Amino acid sequence: MHGSNTGEGSEHHRDAAGTVRRPGRRWWTEAVIYQIYPRSFADSDGDGIGDLPGITARLGHLTELGVDAVWLSPFYPSPQADAGYDVADYRDVDPLFGRLADADKLIAEARSRGLRVIVDLVPNHTSSAHRWFLEALAAGPGSPARQRYVFRDGKGPEGAEPPNDWQSVFGGPAWTRVTDDGHPGQWYLHLFDTGQPDLNWDHPEVRAEFLDILRFWLDRGVDGFRVDVAHGLVKQADLADWHEPQEILSGKEIDKPRPPMWDQDGVHEIYREWRRVLDSYDGERVLVAEAWVEPVERLAAYVRPDEMHQAFNFEYLLAAWTAPAQYAVITRSLEATDAVGAPTTWVLSNHDVVRHASRLGLPIGTVRPNGIGIGDEQPDAALGLRRARAATLLMLALPGSAYLYQGEELGLPEHTTLPDEARQDPTWERSGHTLRGRDGCRVPIPWEADAPSYGFGPTDASWLPQPPLWAEYALDRQRGVPGSTYELYRTALRLRHEHGLGRGTLFWLESGDEVLTFRNGRLTVLTNFGDASVPVPGGAEVLHASAPLDEDGRVPTDVTVWFRS
Ligand code: GLC
Repeated sequence: MHGSNTGEGSEHHRDAAGTVRRPGRRWWTEAVIYQIYPRSFADSDGDGIGDLPGITARLGHLTELGVDAVWLSPFYPSPQADAGYDVADYRDVDPLFGRLADADKLIAEARSRGLRVIVDLVPNHTSSAHRWFLEALAAGPGSPARQRYVFRDGKGPEGAEPPNDWQSVFGGPAWTRVTDDGHPGQWYLHLFDTGQPDLNWDHPEVRAEFLDILRFWLDRGVDGFRVDVAHGLVKQADLADWHEPQEILSGKEIDKPRPPMWDQDGVHEIYREWRRVLDSYDGERVLVAEAWVEPVERLAAYVRPDEMHQAFNFEYLLAAWTAPAQYAVITRSLEATDAVGAPTTWVLSNHDVVRHASRLGLPIGTVRPNGIGIGDEQPDAALGLRRARAATLLMLALPGSAYLYQGEELGLPEHTTLPDEARQDPTWERSGHTLRGRDGCRVPIPWEADAPSYGFGPTDASWLPQPPLWAEYALDRQRGVPGSTYELYRTALRLRHEHGLGRGTLFWLESGDEVLTFRNGRLTVLTNFGDASVPVPGGAEVLHASAPLDEDGRVPTDVTVWFRS
């Protein structure tokens, strides 16, 4: 038996801000949280880049869909070296996306619709355009300003070699040499792009600054923070060489050495301190870890009672589409978070991975591709969508909290034939054109089939080209259309809410090689991964299905069914 006991309370009321509060029930333990990637959601001014007023104008879509909260990827002032994950000022809005007043308006309007708002916090690195980094460059070696980052002398004759062998997650070395007094000087560490220097989290000013940034946004009314690269802030003190290629993922095996840049024990003290700040505010504010940490037992340490509230479950996202793999990851995830009393989270897509409607259309066992482009093996689009719909219905029936990524409710595939010249993800350049990167999952959303930029904005402009087939995925082609992916999501979210699935308990009924069946409350969920159709147990009333059943009522391959027995 697995499940989360999240407390009781059926009486609902609205607080002063209009948000629906359920006494005694912690909203985040069962919430469905919708990720908005602001560049690509809705463009109000026609410059081809989405913005905050665009989001505010489309909030009705989210309440109609039936989600509980939104998480906004970064909208802060930034040179956009990594699409805003290079923050130059943590307390303002980039003019690309609007003004600070637009953020306030978005938060207020979301709350008045009963939607919670989570913002992205990027503490591992700043932008190289951040005031602190400019000061560090100007102040020179040994200065206090350099202590806030990770500057080191190089190795070898004249310090011409980087201080260690670490690689950037985006490819190439994790160190860049600066010029000191007009000559080649020290090196600084950047686990990501050159424009994203890593902060030194041993420095008290760094710690104090982020406590203040937390308060800045908490005071503006946000419900929490998604913490970027939460497993990276603290590095092993000796910065020892790591003779492996760089990956954002920490070590898989619990007893094997962990990479010296990921998942160091020292990160936990930082989050305990942050938790105390959040707890000093009313209204159940939350911290969500973006920590690419395996195995799930190590990940669970981030959500101990005095640390973060949630952590993304990337092991689930990465699991193969087979009954044994899905059974194993679901069971292990529930056990690991139960052990620390935290809710489990589930996620299938985000702005860093190939969309699941395409990922699942690749042969089972394909290693996680870092983007797909012209000339690469192309996914089977129909198979991918069929499996994606089945995977989504399976996910939304699990107890815990689920994350959706904008566009997945339309069944959007990855843009798998994006011209390489259009690519903007630094991964493409830094990997020497060997990794396509993440642009294919970031293409602006189609809202209206027959409008310019498919309704993304008032003009044809779109910062990444939308594929010609986008019209068929547009919201207005799916809204009210029985069987559409949009209506599949809406019905699933309504039933999930009505049946309290997020706060339920999972009992496995069947976990074979081809079929998984579990019960959550009065709902039974069956996914058929096998080649042959299988019967629905006699007398069962089908409530929802990811695709039509056979004429004789059997469940075909790659279909999930929710039924009441
Ligand atoms: C996280 C973000 C990703 C970004 C990276 C560096 O993994 O999700 O988009 O590139 O951190 O900030």
